[in-house]
Amino acid sequence: MRAAGCVFAEDEARLLFSAARTPDELTALVERRACGHPLEHILGWAEFCGLRIAVEPGVFVPRRRTEFLVSRAVHTRPDADVVVDLCCGSGAVGAALAASLPGRGTELYASDIEPAAVRCARRNLPEGARVFQGDLFEPLPGLLRGRVDILAANVPYVPTEEVGLLPAEARMHEPLVALDGGTDGLDVLRRVTAKAGEWLAPGGILLFETSEHQAAGALAAVAEGGLEPAAAICDERYATVVVGTKTAC
Ligand SMILES: C[S@@+](CC[C@H](N)C(=O)[O-])C[C@H]1O[C@@H](n2cnc3c(N)ncnc32)[C@H](O)[C@@H]1O
Repeated sequence: MRAAGCVFAEDEARLLFSAARTPDELTALVERRACGHPLEHILGWAEFCGLRIAVEPGVFVPRRRTEFLVSRAVHTRPDADVVVDLCCGSGAVGAALAASLPGRGTELYASDIEPAAVRCARRNLPEGARVFQGDLFEPLPGLLRGRVDILAANVPYVPTEEVGLLPAEARMHEPLVALDGGTDGLDVLRRVTAKAGEWLAPGGILLFETSEHQAAGALAAVAEGGLEPAAAICDERYATVVVGTKTAC
């Protein structure tokens, strides 16, 4: 596996070893990994905020850096009653928020445009959560308008021209719609910031990840959407999260 370019070959080998039921199965798993399939797609799960998140082939693998977005949301709105995980992918962010928010009875909603992601999120989100398929806000129930306390929207944000520079694992095994954010990477984001204010409750927050060089454009999009923008950076995770707050009046 090291020869095939796996950076954490020993750790990965241990995981594959524990996942295989027979020596033949182990050989098949190692071969898939050596061919470049993401480890998480082979195992069928990814670790995220201390949870095991089911991840099926064709679904975006939740990144550990996104744990920073979850921690910002919980830190800023520990009292959240209504949470939406927009562009939910596997539902990792929503599942982690449900597990981390101290309150009981949080209403949780999620949506994604990809059927495989929606299927996966339904496996990962707790009982009572509702997962919809469709374009951004379009499939959400109208009764959520003006009621959302946390709107997590980890949208695709890779500029189209840079998609080809991503590691093969992402390019070959994650859907383009999960990666490609348009010419400057902010196309999907701008569609979210334009509408977020309609769905947020007073004091509600929109959170999304961006790259350091896109942060200025992302903050401007938040301000144009009528929300108060702020950025938070985690050097350890190499993560930049933008938070847009709907001010109370
Ligand atoms: C970068 S992935 C993030 C997934 C998940 N939130 C996470 O952090 O692991 C972006 C997700 O947005 C979804 N997506 C892209 N465009 C969308 C749209 N117009 N409406 C709904 N979902 C969309 C993709 O299918 C993908 O699952």
